[in-house]
Amino acid sequence: MGMSHSALAVVILAAGQGTRMKSATAKVLHTLSGVPMIGHVLSTAQALEPEHLIVVVRHEREQVEAAVADWAPEARCVVQDEIPGTGRALEVAIAALPKAFTGDVVVVSGDVPLLDSDTLRVVLDHHRDQSVPATIITTVLDDPTGYGRVIRGGDGRVLRVVEEADATPEEHGVLEVNAGSYVFSRSAVAEALGSIGTHNSQGEKYLTDVVEALATGHAVGAVRVEDSWLLQGINDRVQLGEVQALLNQMIVRGHQLAGVTVHDPASFFVDLGVELASDVEILPGVQLRGDTSIASGAVIGPDTTLLDTTVGEGAVVVRTHAEGAHIRAGANVGPFSFLRPGADIGEDGKVGAFVEIKNSTLARGAKVPHLSYIGDADIGEGTNIGAGAITANYDGVNKHRTVVGSHSRTGSHTVFVAPVTLGDGSYTAAGAVVRRDVPAGALAVSVASQRNLEGWVEANRDGTPAATAAKKAAGGKKATKG
Ligand code: UD1
Ligand code: MG
Repeated sequence: MGMSHSALAVVILAAGQGTRMKSATAKVLHTLSGVPMIGHVLSTAQALEPEHLIVVVRHEREQVEAAVADWAPEARCVVQDEIPGTGRALEVAIAALPKAFTGDVVVVSGDVPLLDSDTLRVVLDHHRDQSVPATIITTVLDDPTGYGRVIRGGDGRVLRVVEEADATPEEHGVLEVNAGSYVFSRSAVAEALGSIGTHNSQGEKYLTDVVEALATGHAVGAVRVEDSWLLQGINDRVQLGEVQALLNQMIVRGHQLAGVTVHDPASFFVDLGVELASDVEILPGVQLRGDTSIASGAVIGPDTTLLDTTVGEGAVVVRTHAEGAHIRAGANVGPFSFLRPGADIGEDGKVGAFVEIKNSTLARGAKVPHLSYIGDADIGEGTNIGAGAITANYDGVNKHRTVVGSHSRTGSHTVFVAPVTLGDGSYTAAGAVVRRDVPAGALAVSVASQRNLEGWVEANRDGTPAATAAKKAAGGKKATKG
């Protein structure tokens, strides 16, 4: 077998309009587990290590080209002209291959994202072993609606593929469908594409028509795949949802086999890029998105969403929403915490109920346990921020930082008017509005001392339940004014 026979090109068909998606976004850019559909297909194509990787584009071309450049910079986009159909798409791709290329062409659809490289390698080997001009991939479905049907002769040989819209009632009953992915020998498919027209119900140049053209005179190979779900195409949002559910199940299963406890796999949604160490525990209702990674022994959930967030060993994160945050080892977050980009919760730190933290660092052991907004702040080691603290970080024009030293204790309902710095071991009184720096070890008090106007309620709110209660507490005698 010479070099030219083993040369490989992969063509991804992604020029279609995706009308059935009813979307302003190109079909192949809809994401599955955090990766655009075309990204899944590009990764599969890359795994085959082809000499040429071509993506055929047309509709929403700029968007699709940008995604392709992102995922596979080595891929080349070629633009389909106004002649519609999968056959025309392959024709323009083939024309873009160097003339000297006489190898095999693997064709995959941009809308069949679960088809994997192992399956394609089996098909490619089969194609090469049989020395056929074309090999199609098929599967048998209980409900073949929407797919092209594979028509075989009495001897079992593949004769042609008929699209649903063009099929006779008898052909509709065929359960073996065309997966829309193929291996062709370049010269054979180029010639066959030249011979087919657009005489069908959709007025398109069907790639499926080359099967009939090539089956006349030669044998066409076919590989029947047992795991039909690998070949599910996405033409509408129902199928998008079905494929997403399948992919999520596969990803979750992979994590389980790698040592992650998942209490309710059906309510655990995890993107492809997420890393989970062994002995992570996931409670029901958890979504882990983007570049999230969770270290060993951490417990996440229930009802928690983490996006681009890292969680350290043994941390516990309960009913929390976090984006772009770091939760260090042993930290405790939630329930009902909101961590925004740049929130960095130190080792053994704590963030409690109804606390929002943005662009702030909490050093080791620092705690913000209750009802607070901490933005643009650095909180020192072992410091406890009292309930209801607010950093007034925004003056309406600029954001300013609040710095609190180590082992400070701030009183309930302290307002930090930034920029402001509190030294190590400092305290603030309850309700303090801290506008000036506080030296180390000082107690900041900013609220006027309390006066009690005795008898005020009886004098001013006579007849109310409060006045009656006050009278009773005073033992019937009228309280003196103080
Ligand atoms: C196609 C097959 C069908 C098969 C099914 C499997 C044809 C005629 N039919 O039907 O036999 O059972 O896939 O999923 O091939 N595309 C282009 N240019 C075009 C039209 C489409 O590049 O002019 C691309 C689309 O972006 C898509 C792929 O080709 O990624 C398939 O097109 P689609 O319209 O989804 O074809 P199906 O109706 O699914
Ligand atoms: Mg399709």
